[in-house]
Amino acid sequence: MELRDRYGLVGTYLTHPISLSGTTNYMLDLREKAALFELLERVRPEVIIHTAAAVNVDECETNRELAYQLNVSVPDSLSEYCGANRSLFVHLSTDAFFSEKNVLHDEESAVTPLNYYAETKLLAEDIIRKKCSNHLIIRTNFFGWNYQIKSSLAEWIYFLLRDGKTVPAVEDVWFTPILTNTLSSTLHEMIEHGLRGTYHVASDRSISKYEFAQQICAAFDFDYSLIIPTKVESLKLKAKRSSNMALSNRKLRRDLPGWQCHIEDEIFKFKELEINGYIRRLRTSLVDN
Ligand SMILES: NC(=O)c1ccc[n+]([C@@H]2O[C@H](COP(=O)([O-])OP(=O)(O)OC[C@H]3O[C@@H](n4cnc5c(N)ncnc54)[C@H](OP(=O)(O)O)[C@@H]3O)[C@@H](O)[C@H]2O)c1
Repeated sequence: MELRDRYGLVGTYLTHPISLSGTTNYMLDLREKAALFELLERVRPEVIIHTAAAVNVDECETNRELAYQLNVSVPDSLSEYCGANRSLFVHLSTDAFFSEKNVLHDEESAVTPLNYYAETKLLAEDIIRKKCSNHLIIRTNFFGWNYQIKSSLAEWIYFLLRDGKTVPAVEDVWFTPILTNTLSSTLHEMIEHGLRGTYHVASDRSISKYEFAQQICAAFDFDYSLIIPTKVESLKLKAKRSSNMALSNRKLRRDLPGWQCHIEDEIFKFKELEINGYIRRLRTSLVDN
């Protein structure tokens, strides 16, 4: 929302219409390459920030064709356009293809995709590097408030605890999540500073999903006894998951002087947004204006 005062913004959606004042939004199935290129030729963007993907890790196992189309073919088309037109291609990648234990993975760490979602996201990265030198590949894991009514991890934890219900919180999966609002302002800074290449945009220390739930619980002063430590294996998920996706943000801190991101601050901001009526503002400004 902050960007619309500074840039001409064009967005696309598929099933959830966005109508934000100061921006132009189109319904577009990104898999329709001709329609996509027709829009790109009309808009001629200097920067494309690509966030759409097939993100349900279990569904990616069963619907591989859709996963490939969205997670590989679409970024392939966009990097082709950006490569030919010298636009900057900013691509949201993932932490899901890392799995070495007890480390913070850096940009050079070995990748070991354990499921098809991770495989497709990795394939996209390789294509982007080949087709468009003017790129930013952002490996991340984020949480925050959605404009849609959705149960992303932090929201799911928040709503269950708020309603006095138990939360099965996984104690043997580790990650380095960042608040969505911090991620978007960081992307903006990275673009403004001319950073290019692959970066890990993450908070500064690894926490388990169990500790993440505990921190949300503490921030909102909910009842700790509702958080039930759970092993990931007991969830019987379809796709295999990594137990350690934690990312090192050292390269970003080196290249963006002064940038830092502490998980405690991120959770505090998550709470502040809720208290300050951000969810209502987000939902009304995206839907009504
Ligand atoms: N959530 C995380 O922590 C996390 C972690 C690592 C990486 N990522 C990456 O971050 C990005 C965003 O993830 P998210 O969790 O925010 O996912 P999300 O909320 O499900 O957003 C995915 C978007 O893709 C759009 N989309 C799906 N199929 C489309 C199509 N054929 N044409 C046009 N748009 C289409 C959907 O638009 P409609 O809603 O309009 O249908 C949806 O808004 C993804 O690239 C994901 O891999 C996320």
